[in-house]
Amino acid sequence: MAKITASVYTSHVPAIGAALDLGKTQEDYWKPVFAGYEFSKQWMKDNKPDVIFLVFNDHATAFSLDMIPTFAIGTAAQFTPADEGWGPRPVPVVQGHPELASHIAQSVIQQDFDLTIVNKMDVDHGLTVPLSLMCGQQDPVKGAWPCPVIPFAVNVVQYPVPSGQRCFNLGQAIRKAIESYDEDINVHIWGTGGMSHQLQGARAGLINREWDNAWLDQLINDPLACANRPHMDYVREAGSEGIELVMWLIARGAMSDIQDGKVTGPTPKLAHRFYHVPASNTAVGHAILENAI
Ligand code: DHB
Ligand code: FE
Repeated sequence: MAKITASVYTSHVPAIGAALDLGKTQEDYWKPVFAGYEFSKQWMKDNKPDVIFLVFNDHATAFSLDMIPTFAIGTAAQFTPADEGWGPRPVPVVQGHPELASHIAQSVIQQDFDLTIVNKMDVDHGLTVPLSLMCGQQDPVKGAWPCPVIPFAVNVVQYPVPSGQRCFNLGQAIRKAIESYDEDINVHIWGTGGMSHQLQGARAGLINREWDNAWLDQLINDPLACANRPHMDYVREAGSEGIELVMWLIARGAMSDIQDGKVTGPTPKLAHRFYHVPASNTAVGHAILENAI
């Protein structure tokens, strides 16, 4: 059967993608950001997944105000990079996994979560920046990402947005779905976005280092309490775009210490943790958790 062996959490700042694509990684401003992912790139090589289930949010690239799915699963064979800011990044087309994605859609919908099935979707920095950070730069034509990716888009842009608790519960349903897939494959689940950032208004540029780190401690070690945090905690403490962090709870809820809404096993192993300010207007946070095999 398929199993989830690890979860990855990372910010997805678009300026990081631009720094990579424009060859700025060795500049003083960017060096410390990329240094935090050196371990992770080696870890990806040593722990290569067969499929990545990648939770991100679309930033009005694939979806507009015409249609706003709360949870959208990409079931296509391929996803083309696109973006709303710097334009499409020069990175390889993302290969999907239609069989596993369809299986997850079937299972998760039957567990009473409403997913939107998306057979055609462009993917923006929310998805491509984490892939670049974890897998390194790839030639857009001759290169390829190391494995198929199932994009899972969450609406955290246009209110109303889902709660952290609902995301955490959904993560548990996604794990059940993956574990009922009849093929011996190794799946990683990634949660992206955050950490603290506010891109507009009087508080633009807000960074809350202390809160971010306490939240990450809680996500790792006390996930039920973390899931229970109300939406306003994020907005007040981490800024309006800090709400992207609820997507990390989908990945955390899918880890094997959680069963039927309770902690029933040992905390997953923390393989790596990183935090850095600044990157554009955002705090960069990153962690890797491994399930006990
Ligand atoms: C920015 C945009 C994002 O989507 C994000 O998650 C972080 C930062 C930005 O425009 O700086
Ligand atoms: Fe974002």
